[in-house]
Amino acid sequence: MDIETVLVAGATGNVGSEVVRALDGVEVRALSRRGARVGDAVPVIGDLGDRAGVRELWSGVGAVFLPAGHPDVPGLLADMRDAGVRRVVLLSTGAVVGGDLDNVVTRFNVVSEAAVRDSGLEWAVLRPSGFMSNALGWAPLDDVVREPFADVPVAVIDPADIGAVAARALTDPGLAGRSLRLTGPEVTLPAERLAVLAELLGRDVRLEPEPDDDARERMTAAMPAPYVDAFFRFFRGGEYDDGHVTTTVPDLLGRPARSFRQWAEVHLGAF
Ligand SMILES: NC(=O)c1ccc[n+]([C@@H]2O[C@H](COP(=O)([O-])OP(=O)(O)OC[C@H]3O[C@@H](n4cnc5c(N)ncnc54)[C@H](OP(=O)(O)O)[C@@H]3O)[C@@H](O)[C@H]2O)c1
Repeated sequence: MDIETVLVAGATGNVGSEVVRALDGVEVRALSRRGARVGDAVPVIGDLGDRAGVRELWSGVGAVFLPAGHPDVPGLLADMRDAGVRRVVLLSTGAVVGGDLDNVVTRFNVVSEAAVRDSGLEWAVLRPSGFMSNALGWAPLDDVVREPFADVPVAVIDPADIGAVAARALTDPGLAGRSLRLTGPEVTLPAERLAVLAELLGRDVRLEPEPDDDARERMTAAMPAPYVDAFFRFFRGGEYDDGHVTTTVPDLLGRPARSFRQWAEVHLGAF
């Protein structure tokens, strides 16, 4: 291992917390705006939207885990390089593959990826499928779950697998310069994932597909319109095929990618 200290941005999140958990044998700094404790990592408070405010956080850090999409990613990366950071691992999305730059979600990820490649740092890019943890949106579980895009199959991935690959890429120069398309082990529909949860909980739960008009109205109340459009373009306009499995996770980790059932067993308490 050629890195002694890793800073994990977004460390309290579904993915970031798993990156922290998977790192072993290095000092870990856990960055979030609230600065909460994650395992044994040193909590660090900072807002990645404030380049000057986080500039001092990069010193003494060898590698950084960075989620895509902050306002000045090239500036953040320049500051990291100036402070002596050697390596960055970017959390992007599978949606960039063949994606359209008019789509706001595709665009912020593509822009972040380009900045990382141009940064002069060693880099690796992670392009995961939809997360198994999106199912946490169903908690606490009602008897009927309304779900948008219920007919769209996705090879959902356990954030723990993203964390394990990220930990490898952060501490192993062997993955430098690679863009890794990461998925779970199988393609499933939301109703199939819900059925697994229901079985584990011993509950009778039914999925009701949410009509597109209702989904658009609900999502528009919760997020800016270009983001709502982005999801409709992905899953209704055919801009994102997230319904195929890659072998990247087992190839890199030497074990199968984790199933939705395994994820659900760990997170059952949340439902
Ligand atoms: N959900 C999916 O299916 C999917 C698929 C592919 C890619 N992605 C991408 O993966 C990313 C991470 O997902 P997740 O589920 O792990 O997210 P999450 O659980 O919402 O966690 C986000 C983390 O980032 C921190 N954070 C947010 N804004 C910040 C800022 N300005 N400065 C510093 N820290 C900040 C949050 O903590 P504080 O709030 O305390 O700052 C939290 O630790 C998403 O943003 C998305 O772009 C998601």
